[in-house]
Amino acid sequence: MNTTVTEIADGIYRFSTLTDAIPGGFTFNQFLVKGDEPLLFHTGLKSTFESVCEAVRTVVPIETLRWVSFGHWEADESGALNGWLAAAPHSELAIGVFGTMLSGNDQATRPPRSLTDGEVLDLGGKRVRWIDTPHVPHGWDAGLLFEETTATLLCGDLFTQTGDAAITEGDIAGPAAALEDMMHSTALTPRTAPTLHRLAELRPSALALMHGPSFHGDGAAALHTLAADYQSRLERERESAEHR
Ligand SMILES: [Fe+2]
Ligand SMILES: [Fe+2]
Repeated sequence: MNTTVTEIADGIYRFSTLTDAIPGGFTFNQFLVKGDEPLLFHTGLKSTFESVCEAVRTVVPIETLRWVSFGHWEADESGALNGWLAAAPHSELAIGVFGTMLSGNDQATRPPRSLTDGEVLDLGGKRVRWIDTPHVPHGWDAGLLFEETTATLLCGDLFTQTGDAAITEGDIAGPAAALEDMMHSTALTPRTAPTLHRLAELRPSALALMHGPSFHGDGAAALHTLAADYQSRLERERESAEHR
């Protein structure tokens, strides 16, 4: 197993493990925000922990990790959590209020630091804001982090797509729609598109995808395009239900 390292924005590092889980190649990516208090976003699977550790170690000593965070409870997002908490004795899990209540208090070996919607963690040189996004892309506890100094949205499973590129300035909404056609991984609700339009108001200049390349460019436009795709899927579902 091989995990590659790319600095995708100033002080934000992507650790990427390519698998053949889906034809075209499928990546599992973790991100390190390198402030005075380093934060890891996504723990990765337990099965990739050693490989990701080795990659993170090329950027910071593991034991200096201060925060571990992720968008929702699911094996690729949170599976190796307790491995990281053990390897970095001063680290804390930082997740939203629902993630704390639904799973964190039970699953984590140390009590989580619970973040409210809009709350900022000052990492020293970097600032991450927690944003609640319930059921977007899936999971009641879902949320995301926005790094304010680089305008990078750590966008988790949003825009999930195949391929092994590290960075792109091209279209990411089209490839995401193609994989959604196959996998149906997104919870389509009346709140899906409005939540994405709200994220667009952050005007991110980088989107750090958990599965796919990191995007540089007009993040707001990409989020609006993704929102429009989900809204049309929801309307098609409604129409076909009415004709049943
Ligand atoms: Fe997920
Ligand atoms: Fe994921």
